[in-house]
Amino acid sequence: MTFDAATYQHHSARLQTEDIDFDTFRDRPLGPEALRCLRYMHDVESHTVCYLRDILVTRAHRDPAVTSFLTLWNYEEFWHGDAIARVLAAHDESAGATRIAALRRRLPRGDRWRPVGFQIASSLTPQLTAVHMTWGAVNEWTTQAAYARLSRLADHPTLSVLLKRIMKQEGRHIDFYATEATGRLSSSRAAQRLTRWALRRFWSPVGTGVVPGSEVDFLRTYLFGDDDGRSMAERIDRRVDRLPGLDGLHLLSGAVAA
Ligand SMILES: [Fe+2]
Ligand SMILES: [Fe+2]
Repeated sequence: MTFDAATYQHHSARLQTEDIDFDTFRDRPLGPEALRCLRYMHDVESHTVCYLRDILVTRAHRDPAVTSFLTLWNYEEFWHGDAIARVLAAHDESAGATRIAALRRRLPRGDRWRPVGFQIASSLTPQLTAVHMTWGAVNEWTTQAAYARLSRLADHPTLSVLLKRIMKQEGRHIDFYATEATGRLSSSRAAQRLTRWALRRFWSPVGTGVVPGSEVDFLRTYLFGDDDGRSMAERIDRRVDRLPGLDGLHLLSGAVAA
């Protein structure tokens, strides 16, 4: 796991979909479970710009290495959401701007105060960026694993091609966040303590608070509830264990078992 900024900037791109025939879903539609997963993934990918809002109000915005990555990350995640929207549209499902606008209208009232909370927290401690980078690593690991599980369970050739391309880009996001998290945690015991406390106290699967709790429960059990899913969750936990000062949190296993 290493991240090279110049290489990432060179390879960063809009997700390639020109050669994907989305009409194949009309001849061979996905089942209801796969569509339910894709609605969730569409909503979360499309919410990336809101997560970006929360980071940019912190002192992370002073670090050009972080902001360069976030710029390209947000762009790539936008196209992930757009590609999934096209899959949903091929099933005559609401997707894209209409669905995103409705979702943002339904966000809890507390959402508007999130940037304020992060700004205050960032003014109180220089270690908040370590929390954000570690949080990002856990979420990108989880996202990539979720796509791998969906590809396997849906067993649809067109969807598998699309998800494989998305997963490749998620892999580069993982490299960035995990490299940043490792560096920041290894250089500061205070960062380790704060990150450990924040993950233990506040972490929940990505999408919590954005999509309804019933959908988080569905994804958790559908994608990670069987033996293969549980072993994937344990693998992510072992990756978290290897981050400085974060062993034994069992975040994913705990969420799957909850
Ligand atoms: Fe993504
Ligand atoms: Fe990502």
